[in-house]
Amino acid sequence: MSNFQVINHPLIQHKLSILRRKDMGTKVFRELVDEIGMLMAYEVSRDLPLEDVEIETPITTTTQKQLAGKKLAIVPILRAGIGMVDGILKLIPAAKVGHIGMYRDEETLEPHEYLVKLPEDISSRQIFLVDPMLATGGSAILAVDSLKKRGATNIKFVCLVAAPEGVQALQKAHPDVNIYTASLDEKLNEHGYIVPGLGDAGDRLFGTK
Ligand code: URA
Repeated sequence: MSNFQVINHPLIQHKLSILRRKDMGTKVFRELVDEIGMLMAYEVSRDLPLEDVEIETPITTTTQKQLAGKKLAIVPILRAGIGMVDGILKLIPAAKVGHIGMYRDEETLEPHEYLVKLPEDISSRQIFLVDPMLATGGSAILAVDSLKKRGATNIKFVCLVAAPEGVQALQKAHPDVNIYTASLDEKLNEHGYIVPGLGDAGDRLFGTK
């Protein structure tokens, strides 16, 4: 699977195992999604371009490095994507945050878009599109469609748990989008849940049912 990367960092893998446990309450679940989001951001931002900058230290003038090129936007897919935003912002505090609202029809499992609110200059930004779960891929594909319609060209999709079905669907629809996950799970079940997965990420984050 090209353009696809499982982030195998030991801290991420350890925290993800705790996150999956069904007895983890809302508080801990939220904290872990935040922490894993931050660690994922560290890995996903490895290839951000740098440029030279001349600075003055208290001792001398020197040429050092600073981030160059396109600025960043974090775009969570509502609602579960919100859980990853603060963690990423801890590392990239100047990033703008857009939102794409999707709900999944419980019968057809088809996603529907109900909200798109993005930074004005989205077309010139590197985008981290985030959603903890890449299940059928329907929401991710629709969200990327939506971003591209508004001029976005540089999109990374960042999730915590992916199903092979979702990865394949997203790669087929948008081969230019790089996909990062903390785990490639086994499959989807007949209700569209990832197996073994962690259940409904939105419900577990927000304490709903
Ligand atoms: N969305 C979730 O929150 N969990 C799944 O397993 C699949 C989709």
